[in-house]
Amino acid sequence: MDISTILAVILGGLILLILYFLWTHQNAKNYWKYRGIPQVPGSHPVVGNILPLIRQTHNLITLITEFYEKNQKSSMVGMLHMMNPALILRDPELVKTVMQVEFHNFNENHFLVSMENDPLFSKNPFFSTGEAWIAGRKRLTYAFSSMRLKILVESIRAVSHKLDAYILKQLKDKNSLEVELKDLFARFTLEAVANAGFGLEGFSFDDEKHPGSLKEMSAKIFQPSTLSNMKFILMLAFPNFSKILGFSLLPQEIDRYFRSLVKEIIKVRKGETVPRNDFFQLMTDLEKTEGEEIDIESMTAYVLSFLIDGYETSSTTLSFVGFGLAKHPDAQERAREEVKSVLSNHNNTINYDCLKELTYMDQIINESMRLYPAAGVLSKTCTKDTQLKGFDGLICDVEKGTQIIIPVKGLQNDPKYWKDPEIFDPERFSKENSKDITKYTFLPFGEGPRQCVGMRMAQMQMKAALTAVLDKYSLELSPRTRLPLTIDPQQGIMPNPLGGIWVYIKPLRH
Ligand code: HEM
Repeated sequence: MDISTILAVILGGLILLILYFLWTHQNAKNYWKYRGIPQVPGSHPVVGNILPLIRQTHNLITLITEFYEKNQKSSMVGMLHMMNPALILRDPELVKTVMQVEFHNFNENHFLVSMENDPLFSKNPFFSTGEAWIAGRKRLTYAFSSMRLKILVESIRAVSHKLDAYILKQLKDKNSLEVELKDLFARFTLEAVANAGFGLEGFSFDDEKHPGSLKEMSAKIFQPSTLSNMKFILMLAFPNFSKILGFSLLPQEIDRYFRSLVKEIIKVRKGETVPRNDFFQLMTDLEKTEGEEIDIESMTAYVLSFLIDGYETSSTTLSFVGFGLAKHPDAQERAREEVKSVLSNHNNTINYDCLKELTYMDQIINESMRLYPAAGVLSKTCTKDTQLKGFDGLICDVEKGTQIIIPVKGLQNDPKYWKDPEIFDPERFSKENSKDITKYTFLPFGEGPRQCVGMRMAQMQMKAALTAVLDKYSLELSPRTRLPLTIDPQQGIMPNPLGGIWVYIKPLRH
């Protein structure tokens, strides 16, 4: 074949490919048009409406919130997630239908990881489906029951002392310490996972390198890169295609690390005479009572679930709570008074009952999560054809397999449901006022049968960290924090503010 023939073949192939993309794009655009559902304008061939995600000018939460806000009039809006149709729900009643009333028709998170490519993730209750989800969920529900939480809080208390000791050490003789809050609270939540979860030393408050430590490995999981962001977007848009290509969420190195960590913990515990009382032990005992041999893969999946589902979400939330406290000294003072008074009734000891009594702190945490939800977008899969009817009379016949997007941040910041939504006002969540909150417009932990199973554990550990800080220190915003907070568009799915949240921590004068 001469060179001109080769060039002609390549050119012909390219033209065919472009025509194919244009044709599929036109078909995809018509998908919502034929159903009479308004759609997000500005879609492009191949990428649909998510070009800003690929160009990294938006992260997922800011993009979906923008789509939510720009389509005020309708109860549902169609969009193209690459070439796949996805439906954004703008009506709290529809959210209720999908997450609660007709849960059986929308019972999967729209993120299918495959058993072959991601064996550990596919056993994590967030990703699992069917019987595997029911079994995993049942175990975790028990693991975070009130009885078990009381035990876990004992370890969390020890971690809050470590947090205090760390701050004190950094302060030395100075009367002020400038810290980045996500960094500070990530140390706390990682240590909580290590201690309360696996009975291990996490070295989280230690700045020296500890090769092979949980801290080092977690940094590898949670450090987003452009490549990992792209892979994530592709897996979300094309779960089946990603499966064929062998895409996995969890790098091989991490998979191997956690499997050998679990084997090591089991070996050490076999030699111990006094049984431990942590999450790891509970999971081992549950396997035994069900008459099963300890399955290393299941145990590793639970261990990872504790870390992956709880660590980043809790530290992100805590950093925004710290921001709210630093920016609003009155709320901080009131929270501190509550902490002092509750602690004095409990022998100055953090325990389960004392944390439950901190109700103003709950209001502050809720208001922070309303403004800055860690999971600002939820994504479900329609598992059976279902008809949805919106407040405006719009009717959509949703086909099995369609992605349903719950715009958590959009709903939580909508002036239709929240007066002056941009204002930080913990009073919205007081006992009297919370009755007026429109149901399904406040979803920081999701809703329905798939609601966050670690919610109470998360609340307890966040309150323990805040109690330790507020009891002894004050927080003041540093000018290093860039205001207004802008979410870093290069950080894929988590809402991390550009430049971080910097505060001065000062010891209280007695
Ligand atoms: C502030 C911290 C946290 C936030 C904001 C958060 C938020 C969420 C959200 C929004 C979901 C999805 C719910 C839905 O689809 O309706 C979820 C699911 C889940 N979370 Fe959390 N979470 C937090 C902490 C934790 C902790 C500490 C754990 C466990 C140690 C945990 C374990 C899980 C699990 C296992 C699921 C999957 C549940 C299922 O699909 O059945 N989370 N979380």
